[in-house]
Order: sequence, then C-alpha cells, then structure tokens
Amino acid sequence: MASTSPDIVRFLTGITTSGTPHLGNYVGSVRHSVRFSRRADVQSFYFLADYHALIKVDQPARIQRSTLEIAATWLACGLNPERVTFYRQSDIPEIPELTWFLTCVTGKGLLNRAHAYKAMIDKNVAKGDDPDADVSAGLFMYPVLMGADILMFNAHKVPVGRDQVQHIEMARDMAQSFNHLYGEHFTLPEAEIDDAVATLPGLDGRKMSKSYDNTIPLFVPRAQLQKLISGIVTDSRAPGEPKDTEGSALFQIYQAFADNEETEALRKAYADGIGWGDAKQILFERIDREIAPLRAHYEELINNPAQIEKILRAGAEKARALSRPFMVELRHAVGLRNLATGEKTGAPKAAKVSRPSFKQYRESDGLYYFKFLDASGHQLVQSRGFASPQEAGRAIATLKQQRGAALAQLAGQLEPLSNQGVNAASAALDALAAEAAGDS
Ligand code: TRP
Repeated sequence: MASTSPDIVRFLTGITTSGTPHLGNYVGSVRHSVRFSRRADVQSFYFLADYHALIKVDQPARIQRSTLEIAATWLACGLNPERVTFYRQSDIPEIPELTWFLTCVTGKGLLNRAHAYKAMIDKNVAKGDDPDADVSAGLFMYPVLMGADILMFNAHKVPVGRDQVQHIEMARDMAQSFNHLYGEHFTLPEAEIDDAVATLPGLDGRKMSKSYDNTIPLFVPRAQLQKLISGIVTDSRAPGEPKDTEGSALFQIYQAFADNEETEALRKAYADGIGWGDAKQILFERIDREIAPLRAHYEELINNPAQIEKILRAGAEKARALSRPFMVELRHAVGLRNLATGEKTGAPKAAKVSRPSFKQYRESDGLYYFKFLDASGHQLVQSRGFASPQEAGRAIATLKQQRGAALAQLAGQLEPLSNQGVNAASAALDALAAEAAGDS
C-alpha cells in the first residue's frame, strides 16, 4: 500500500518516442532529470513512452529510430542505468493493464476536458468538420495511459513542462478515485516545473516543438548546429543599434545555457548594439561548449544499438520487479482474485502454510545474487551482484536479524523498492523471524 516516506522522493519522467531530441527537450526535461537522478534522496524512473508514440506516429521505422535516439540521448547526458530505473514503456505489460483499471474509474467528462483532445475538437469545429474527425480513441485515452505510467511506480514528483501539468492533475484524480473505491494504493503525484527553463523558444520564436517544425536537434554535428543557430529569428536592427532582450528568442535560448554572469554580459552587449551575427556566434559557442562532450558519447552509443537494447531490457526487469507484485495487489483490490482461496473479503490468506524464503544463485556475470520471496513465491527483494557467496550470505543474515531496518541499511546492495515493496518485505521478514522463534 502507498504510504508516504519522508526521506525518499520518487521522480518519474517519460518522453514520447515520436521524434528526434532537441534543445528544448534537453533544457526542459533531460538535463533537469539527470541532475536530479544523482541526488541520494531521490529514486528515479525514466522511460521511453513508446505506447504514447503510437497515438501520433504511424511510421514504424520512425518510432524505432526515435526510441533509439532518445535512449542514447539520456545515456549520453549522464543518466546512470545502474542508479536509476531506465526502461521502455512497452516492456512493462502491467502498464496497459493498469490503464484499463484506471479507465474504469475515470469520468469521460474529465477526459473531454483534456487540452490535447479539446484542441483537436475545437479545430475541427472551427473548420466546420465533424468534431471527432481524425480523433482516435488513443488520443482521447492519452491521459489515462499517462496516469498508469505515473501511478504504477507511485511517483511523488513528475518533472514536466507547463503543457503537461493538466495530465498530472488528471493522474491525481484517477489515484484519488481508485483509492476512494479500493483503499489507499496510490501515491498522489505532483508536477514539478522548473520555471526558469520550462520552455525554450524555437527557430521561429514560438515554443520549440516538433509540431511547429522549429526545433534545433540536440546532437547534430557542430557545423550544422552553427548553421541552424544562424537561422534563429531576430528583428531587423542593424549592428550598433541597441537590441531588446525582451522577446528575443536568441536571448532566451542563451539564458537557458548560460550562468547569471554570462547572461548579464549578453544583456549588456544587446544594450550596446551587438550585431545579430555576433550574438548568434556567442550563442553557438556557448551551446557547443556544453553539448560537444555529450555529442561524442552519443555517437558512440547510437552506433551500438544492441548495447542500448540490453540496457533497456535490464531496466525493464528492474521495473517489473515493482510493477508485477503491485499489479497482483491491485488485481486483488478490485476483485480479480484467485477463486480457489475461497475468501470473500479482506486480505488474501495463504492456501497452505508456507513461509517466505531466500533463494541464492549465481548469474552468468559471475556474481552472486539472492532473491527474497513471499510465502506464495512472489519476489519481494532482488539483490544486486556480490563478489562472493559469503557476502551475499552476510546480507541475508543482516536482513533476517534486522528485518525492516536492514532494508534501508542495505539499500545500495538491493534493487530499489517502492514504499509498498518495503512494507511487504518488512512484513515477510517479521513473519519469518516470528516463525523461526516459534520453531526453536
Ligand atoms: N506525455 C509526455 C510528453 O508528451 C510523455 C509522457 C508519457 C510522460 N507518460 C508520461 C511524462 C509520464 C511524464 C510522466 O512529453
């Protein structure tokens, strides 16, 4: 069950795999998220929202390419898949299942009000078309799928741009409805917006977005980056004439990369009448200084898709260690239950007396691992690799003796647990200890 733990904050963010990552994604999402992922008090989830991409894109090759590019981008920008849970949405079959559960507790009227859907309807009406022309049920259901992404991992914070805030509010509504009907299973998520950098203007001065076709791709070669930057819209003031920073796309983009001192220097240069060509050169050099090292790493990664595939599959295993048992809990909560257990209400009872157990094993990587399973054989805890069986054994002994407290103490040696995962594992460790005491 969801409970609020004051010390660990779970961040979750997804990017739809429908395009090539651009500077706006970098400044508005990737950079911010990677920075957060390094904090010790944060547990982060990053995923490639490829089910979402199907709503907008019907070109399979484009989806595949975009998935690869976005995965390579996050890794190149410093996301550490060992530290965070980095996965592909479509590798988690529990997500569509939860989408259905949430669909059944979401008012149609709520979805009618979703911005993306409403904008399409308004456009059709303005053209005199049927309001639903070209509107797929997928577009209509978009916020529910997104709700499932967020609630599946009980995220506290979801870093998003302003345009996505409504979706987070809808996810809260869904969580509240579900909790109200079936008990406190979901954490209520909050949007996390960094106002300074939330949106970046594109080449034409409107918000940088693939739908406006005004983006600057993040990882183009240096020469091409320079060429694209030279195309940013400016006014027609000549060199020597003072320029306005207000409303200047070039200035805003610069500000997103520069520190305060650099920004003030450019502000002064504007007032002093810097020529647009020179201003663009300054912007180009500033961006390239930050991007060049990442670009080298990106190129290495993008040329090795098998490696990325492997990382994503390992990430999916980590994510499913949480989503699988959570889905078991949720299925039970709504009444999709094992009929053989014969219960009518309340918590499930084990059909026969069996006990939680530890399983030790060795992986093909040569390291020693263990799992802690509940009485029905569902995984509660998955260890990371240990160099020797003795070290794995010591960790198990600590868990047996110190139980719940050891879960926090050994956090670095275990795959991350959600709050309900911690609760379930602690309860099982307590049960095991009680039984051991009774046996002796
Ligand atoms: N809708 C988001 C976008 O287009 C992508 C997304 C899907 C997402 N699921 C999410 C973002 C869950 C945050 C949390 O940018």
